[in-house]
Amino acid sequence: MNRLEGKKVVITGAASGIGRAAAQLMAAEGAQVLVADLHESAAEQTAREIRESGATAVGVGVDVMDEAAVASMIDRAVAEFGGITTLCNHVGGSNPHKDLDLLRLDLDEWDRVMALNVRSTVVASRLAIPHMIEAGGGSIVNTASVGGLLGDSLQCAYGSAKAAVIRLTQYIATQYGRQGIRCNAVAPGAIMTPALRDNLPADVVAGIQAANALDMLGSAEDIGYAMVYLASDESRYMSGQTLVVDGGMTAQSPLAAGRRSMLGD
Ligand SMILES: NC(=O)c1ccc[n+]([C@@H]2O[C@H](COP(=O)([O-])OP(=O)(O)OC[C@H]3O[C@@H](n4cnc5c(N)ncnc54)[C@H](O)[C@@H]3O)[C@@H](O)[C@H]2O)c1
Repeated sequence: MNRLEGKKVVITGAASGIGRAAAQLMAAEGAQVLVADLHESAAEQTAREIRESGATAVGVGVDVMDEAAVASMIDRAVAEFGGITTLCNHVGGSNPHKDLDLLRLDLDEWDRVMALNVRSTVVASRLAIPHMIEAGGGSIVNTASVGGLLGDSLQCAYGSAKAAVIRLTQYIATQYGRQGIRCNAVAPGAIMTPALRDNLPADVVAGIQAANALDMLGSAEDIGYAMVYLASDESRYMSGQTLVVDGGMTAQSPLAAGRRSMLGD
């Protein structure tokens, strides 16, 4: 409790999945949270539930692709909380039906994915940093992905965009560290948000689990707890880093699952 006392948090993409869990956990730790999402009513619903639990939250609609809307979101947080100490650039993704391998990917989707994952992070961070400097420092938490660390057979744009988010995290940490601003990223592995779990065939889910070192699948809260840590002063000596939370997927050799079965495990 109260690990985020005094923190004034803006989190985008917070009406569902990982972002929603992170917003709930941050509010439970004492932060004031601006829950921002494309789906305004869902953002308001999430904020209402947080308030009902006795914590502080405000829900707002925002399209992170729209610079003016992002500016309004930042202004709203300052008006509601009297400043901003923490920004979680959480929105991201790509359309796996259009974001294929290099030769087959849709170039318009490439541009959209770069804007959704990378440009949105640039835009919101530029608008929030002056407020963080005014507050005496702050923490930016970007959501990357293990897709930004490894090659894959599909989603060339998504992986490239998340790699850019990881490098951008280092640039922000470098350029504003002297003004007390930390910037870190979290890189989730496969996370079973309800939407994903309900839409994937059982054998695909089993295949994902087999690729992990741990014999389990991650939940939205597993990433939310990492985001709480990066938002809190417990990580005050950490900046420019990417915290990988992936069930050990990127720790093990691609051969490990097959070799486990050679042992009969
Ligand atoms: N779920 C996973 O397995 C996984 C793995 C690695 C990384 N990630 C990353 O985590 C983040 C969220 O993933 P999730 O699985 O929780 O997604 P999700 O689909 O459950 O939630 C995404 C939220 O973002 C909102 N959103 C979408 N476009 C937006 C826009 N333009 N402006 C504002 N809000 C917008 C949606 O309305 C939704 O509420 C993304 O950056 C994603 O790349 C997820």
